[in-house]
Amino acid sequence: MDTMRWVDGRLEILDQTLLPEKTEYIRCDRYETVCEAIRRLSVRGAPAIGAAAAYGLALGASAIDVAGREQFIRAVEKIARDLAATRPTAVNLQWAVDRLLGVMKNTAGGVDVLKEVLLEEAHAIYREDLESNRRMGEFGQVLVPQKASVLTHCNAGALATAGLGTALGVIRAAHRAGKQVEVYAGETRPLLQGARLTTWEMLQENIPVTLITDNMAGYLMARGKVDLVIVGADRIAANGDTANKIGTYGVAVLAGEHGIPFYVAAPMSTVDFNVASGEDIPIENRDEREITHFAGVRVAPPGVKIWNPAFDVTPARLITAIITDRGVAYPPYTESLAGLAAK
Ligand code: MRU
Repeated sequence: MDTMRWVDGRLEILDQTLLPEKTEYIRCDRYETVCEAIRRLSVRGAPAIGAAAAYGLALGASAIDVAGREQFIRAVEKIARDLAATRPTAVNLQWAVDRLLGVMKNTAGGVDVLKEVLLEEAHAIYREDLESNRRMGEFGQVLVPQKASVLTHCNAGALATAGLGTALGVIRAAHRAGKQVEVYAGETRPLLQGARLTTWEMLQENIPVTLITDNMAGYLMARGKVDLVIVGADRIAANGDTANKIGTYGVAVLAGEHGIPFYVAAPMSTVDFNVASGEDIPIENRDEREITHFAGVRVAPPGVKIWNPAFDVTPARLITAIITDRGVAYPPYTESLAGLAAK
């Protein structure tokens, strides 16, 4: 199932808030609909929101009705700002809009040429993500033993990308290589990406999967049921500190305590070399209703104070290796990530 698709000059986004019960696409005729889809997590996961933002920019640009190149570029820049402001943590979003802006500015020609070039670049980002997932799978599956029980958190799968996924891409590649892999999926409170999406993807692939609530991870490890952990990432600082879905840090601490390898899988576009450490990664805070309510029903008393960060930061020292689309980076990450970027 495609996370998104470009059909007849508009973007269609698979509404992940309805999964696994319903598979419906949201038709986006205006870029504002794409912004809304990103904000409400209809499309989510770092590489997927990067690709959606790229298409959103191309879509918004296609509707700009001015003749002058400079005026057009200014209007496109405004749309880029709106798209980039939808979610602050995943750097792929900013990366994708910056890439489109760069290509547009470096292309000679009038408004029609620029509109075309923006759409071509959005298609390129989408296509490249497929290949990037494939490469991560190849590099990463080598680290998975012949028989392995893997814990993952959130959804870093096909739904979070254009391809096979990052963390789940590695698991899929190991499974396809004939390894006996079984998956434990943390449910991922508050929005249940693990329970709704990761289990759904694994069942479709016939990879054995067991759902646990987030607070079961420690006991699961203590019982010797986890051989390795693989998660995705929303932004990786130059030193390897990694922002990912809230709860990831706890899993990493537990893995360290139990001597279990903890891997991060992410494309190089998720590495932000402008950010030296995790301290400087902006963390999105989301609506308190995500915690006060469960499936639309209020579960917390009115008036209670809520803290709802959507991501946390796992320090590099807890990460065994970072699996990228250019190879596997090992500590110290400041050197190894820079080395892969220079490749
Ligand atoms: O809030 P979400 O669902 O967008 O959070 C997604 C994650 O944290 C993923 O693990 C991350 O984006 C990597 S997706 C390949």
